[in-house]
Amino acid sequence: MVINDLKNYFEKIFNIPSGNQYFSPGRINLIGEHTDYNGGFVLPCAITFGTYGLIRKRQDKKVRLYSLNFKEVGLIELDLLHLEYNRNHSWTNYVKGMIKYMSEENLNINSGFDILVYGNIPNGAGLSSSASLEMLIGVILKEEFSFNIDKKSLALTGKRVENEYIGVNSGIMDQFAIAFGKKNSAIILDCDTLYYEYVDMNLKDNVIVIMNTNKRRELADSKYNERRSQCEKALLKLQSVIKINNLCDLTLEEFNKYKYAIKNPIEEKRALHAISENERTKEATELLKYDDLKSFGQLMNKSHISLRDNYEVTGSELDVLAESSWKQKGCLGARMTGAGFGGCAIAIVSKKDLDLFLENVSKDYKNAIGYEASIYVASIGQGSTKLN
Ligand code: GLA
Repeated sequence: MVINDLKNYFEKIFNIPSGNQYFSPGRINLIGEHTDYNGGFVLPCAITFGTYGLIRKRQDKKVRLYSLNFKEVGLIELDLLHLEYNRNHSWTNYVKGMIKYMSEENLNINSGFDILVYGNIPNGAGLSSSASLEMLIGVILKEEFSFNIDKKSLALTGKRVENEYIGVNSGIMDQFAIAFGKKNSAIILDCDTLYYEYVDMNLKDNVIVIMNTNKRRELADSKYNERRSQCEKALLKLQSVIKINNLCDLTLEEFNKYKYAIKNPIEEKRALHAISENERTKEATELLKYDDLKSFGQLMNKSHISLRDNYEVTGSELDVLAESSWKQKGCLGARMTGAGFGGCAIAIVSKKDLDLFLENVSKDYKNAIGYEASIYVASIGQGSTKLN
């Protein structure tokens, strides 16, 4: 689908030509999983798959929304004064949440608008289609109403929508990566202070491969919230013996010294993952700065193993993808990416071995799981932006 097709759709649906065009990416996380809400580091990048939005402002206070990905939901019509969550409003709740919370920040959205949305992020793949949509709406409102608001505030508003409006207790990684994405760069972000730096992704003769399990992510949100609360319990207990604000304030060495306070094997494993993953992420960033992709890949593998054994968020689908990747010639590293419980894995693979890699991993997955995975080569792209 190209912009011209979207313009035609807009005109057909809203009976008026579209105005400006916007794009907001999805994201992958190279390493640093389930560390963001534990005050640790993450290393994500924006990808060139994402969500397009076309808008025309209106004279009245009506908001009309249509997504080409949810044609069955049809045209949803709202007004700026009624922005409460409504289950039946499906995907438009993310839009309503952004309008509501941006308005609460004294940004005066003084007219309604029509928006057409189209996303090419594989559906439910854990590549952050919801944060992509939140940041799309954030940047549309910022530009169309000339708001003086920076990317960081938009990312925090998106997170608030996710946490308070939608009810998923997620961290800041997705919205931040999507708002701040930069072509061919990863972002090392300290989720405690929100200090960040760009790191050049010099992939040399390799590519990043995204492997979608195509597993339905049922109950994923409740399991995510459960992991988060297990970490909070572990933190509380550790705080009785050492002064820290977040699990990731501890080094692995300190953790080993104080872990006796946790007294619950599950919570201990969860904390061990967060703290060891944080150390891996810092180390991996240094390796990337020196273009040492080989050692970087090994840390990706270790990350997956910890997510499998300690955090227990992989499941057989992601494990098959990672473990099959590890066996293939030319694969530098592979791991699940995002929340887990289905969704996607990523791998760094040398270009010359790519064809065989794709063939073998697809075959292994189909044999073990019974249905196909979808596999794509990813490109690292820019953050949410106006296109015209
Ligand atoms: C989801 C959340 C993020 C982060 C990851 C796990 O993508 O939205 O905030 O916690 O899971 O690293």
